[in-house]
Amino acid sequence: MLAIGSDHAAAVLRTVVKAYLDEKGIAYIDCGTDEAPSDYPVIAKKVCGEIASGNAQMGILLCGTGIGMCMTANKCKGIRAAVCSESYSARLTRLHNDANVLCLGARVVGPGLAAEILDAFLETEFEDGGRHQRRVDMMMELEG
Ligand code: RB5
Repeated sequence: MLAIGSDHAAAVLRTVVKAYLDEKGIAYIDCGTDEAPSDYPVIAKKVCGEIASGNAQMGILLCGTGIGMCMTANKCKGIRAAVCSESYSARLTRLHNDANVLCLGARVVGPGLAAEILDAFLETEFEDGGRHQRRVDMMMELEG
């Protein structure tokens, strides 16, 4: 299960991403919002809350640049969020960082590129064990 959310700047992209997920048969919880203007930290907190509670395993957060969502998500316990503008980073952040939240900027990427990035993120597994796990553990220890 995914949790998805956007602020007003990415509401259109959220609609596009939801349609794409529907097409692929991927289930998601829609954390909104259709309000404008809206505050991205509110939505990031909701999506990360769905992951923390176990309702979702991964999140997709969309705002103008993806940056505000990413910064906020990375303050939430258990979250490893990455903002990606191309598919190579999306693949590598799954492989090496075990990222569980993908952030996209609606003012940065178009719908076609967003779908490509999303595919790379969702279709790549973490390279479990070994050095990547050790580094992710080191990263998560900083949470306290
Ligand atoms: C909203 O104008 C914009 O600041 C927001 O969507 C996001 O890009 C922040 O990081």
